[in-house]
Amino acid sequence: MNPAQYTVVVAGMGKRGTHHAEAFQKNGRFKLVGLCDIDATRLEAAAKKFGVSETSADAAALARKTHPDVFCFCTLPDLRLPLIRAGVEAGAKLIAYEKPTALSTNEALEMMQLTRAAGVKTVVSHQHRYGEHYKKVKEIIASGAIGRVHTVYGTATGWMMHMFTHLIDYTRWYNDYAEAEWVVGQAHGKSKFSDNHPSPDYIAGLIQYSNGVRGIVESGEGAPDVPEVDYWWRKCRIGAQGTEGFAEVLTGGGWRAITCDGVASGPGSMDYEHDMGPYVREMADWLDDDKKIHPCNGESAYKDLETAMAICRSVVQRGKVKLPLGPGEPELEALKRVLPD
Ligand SMILES: NC(=O)c1ccc[n+]([C@@H]2O[C@H](COP(=O)([O-])OP(=O)(O)OC[C@H]3O[C@@H](n4cnc5c(N)ncnc54)[C@H](O)[C@@H]3O)[C@@H](O)[C@H]2O)c1
Repeated sequence: MNPAQYTVVVAGMGKRGTHHAEAFQKNGRFKLVGLCDIDATRLEAAAKKFGVSETSADAAALARKTHPDVFCFCTLPDLRLPLIRAGVEAGAKLIAYEKPTALSTNEALEMMQLTRAAGVKTVVSHQHRYGEHYKKVKEIIASGAIGRVHTVYGTATGWMMHMFTHLIDYTRWYNDYAEAEWVVGQAHGKSKFSDNHPSPDYIAGLIQYSNGVRGIVESGEGAPDVPEVDYWWRKCRIGAQGTEGFAEVLTGGGWRAITCDGVASGPGSMDYEHDMGPYVREMADWLDDDKKIHPCNGESAYKDLETAMAICRSVVQRGKVKLPLGPGEPELEALKRVLPD
């Protein structure tokens, strides 16, 4: 018998931790039993807002004490592997965490090893896919109205460790999750390596998928502007071209398509409140039933990260990089070493 409610600990009560706690609290299938942040003021405010008395600055200790079904962490990218370990050691059934999955292939491989060995489900926040405009584009592509898909593409003006796995995740979805076989990449600029999402200023990749479809992804300074969208972080254009047309979503500006049925477009903008509800609901569904695998599952998110890291390796190695990847020199360090000042 599945419990009526799954208990949840959220660690990292910044912007995204708050979104997660709000979504869990709104859904009757979950009960918040603990909150964590190293910032005492922030933690106190969150405890008051969510009415949770069990708080700590130590996520691992809090998880051990409260033993949650769901261990959720929304920290910056420098903190992934230790918190995956904390969730696994506390016996969580599901660990939900923020993109980017990891800062390197090596880290991601270790994280996957831990969760696979313990049989813990993982979910990564590529939740833009719940937007009505994102879903409309998927529906048009899947209906066959753009003919045979030959190209999927995604661009974002935001830099790599913020945006690249979002782009790769949604283009993979639009391409029915075909496996990436090889990539070629190029990058420029080192100013964003000092950011808390360390990245080259710009990166671009070509991806060859096993179904013959070509992926094209670009992120950062130099990626095309999306003038229809005002909000800078939502200047993302993601879509597919086929033999009879195209369909694409603008994260902050609706969707549009030209198909065998004519020209069409519609509204939509990324909206955390709208997207987080189904994102957490599908966690309960997966916990209830192993067959209802979450669309943002960690195995899929690993492939997003792997493709992103393969593109980084291609910049470093100056050539085609085949997937799957094994361990290697941490990609961001290697990029920093080879990119000119
Ligand atoms: N999926 C999305 O749409 C989306 C959108 C924005 C950000 N993000 C991602 O979410 C993550 C967090 O971003 P944010 O904007 O919420 O950051 P934030 O800075 O607002 O919040 C991070 C919080 O983590 C806390 N923290 C740091 N170390 C900790 C530790 N050891 N234990 C507990 N808490 C700790 C910080 O004090 C802070 O409150 C990033 O990886 C970012 O890329 C995802």
